Amino acid sequence: MVHIRKLEIFGFKSFGYKNTLVNFEPGLVAISGANGSGKSNILDAISFALGENAPKIMRVDKLRSLLHDVDNAHHGAKIARVSCHFDNSDRKIPVDSNTVTITREMDESGENIYYLNQKKVLRNHILDLLEIANCGIHKLNIVQQGTITRISEFNSEERRRIIEDIIGLAYFDEKKTEALKQLDEADRRLEIALARMDEIKKRIDELEEERNNQLRYDFLDQGTEETLCNSGLK
Ligand SMILES: Nc1ncnc2c1ncn2[C@@H]1O[C@H](COP(=O)(O)OP(=O)(O)O)[C@@H](O)[C@H]1O
Ligand SMILES: [Mg+2]
Repeated sequence: MVHIRKLEIFGFKSFGYKNTLVNFEPGLVAISGANGSGKSNILDAISFALGENAPKIMRVDKLRSLLHDVDNAHHGAKIARVSCHFDNSDRKIPVDSNTVTITREMDESGENIYYLNQKKVLRNHILDLLEIANCGIHKLNIVQQGTITRISEFNSEERRRIIEDIIGLAYFDEKKTEALKQLDEADRRLEIALARMDEIKKRIDELEEERNNQLRYDFLDQGTEETLCNSGLK
């Protein structure tokens, strides 16, 4: 199963301008610390790296508030960088490497750059890869405080939808709808092509008839000329 092995946080929220490493051992990992020490910020950092763009989900008013802003010793340009290292030994993320590293960088102008294994890529590419591996940001992989209470209050239909979402059925449902749409489109094109073929066949029949008439005419015409020649009239 795809899981996070390591997280690197730099200049993000309460994490200052030195790389903070968080290693995740297999199994259950608990992070403890005093109130306000930055435990939930770790979760926000994961959301950030994986492409989250809703400030509210990362508990800020605007994305720029994610830049670390208390380190007075820092005078350089502000930048937030989070790298999420996934264990991909089972190749569930369609990238041919045992570790898949997704990095997101945001600067003061609010510009974001994404990297997949240190190579620049588009955000959508990251989202697609994570969706295929069912480890994206909107699959309850990240459960914020308060969400558990909300889920416990769901009715059975909502619960079914959430379970389907977790096991990744929604992704295949979408693909199925897309494939059916393409099939419909192919059927429609086939109908048009068959109609065109009918028209062309009719036209070929017409041309064939014209050609035969012409041949018949030429034959008769030639016959008449020969008769005229033989009779010495021509
Ligand atoms: N942009 C920021 N720069 C510096 N500190 C920040 C920034 N955003 C949030 N914080 C700090 O993060 C702390 C809250 O961290 P949080 O992860 O919610 O704590 P907890 O460990 O209680 O979950 C607060 O002290 C807040 O000042
Ligand atoms: Mg907290």
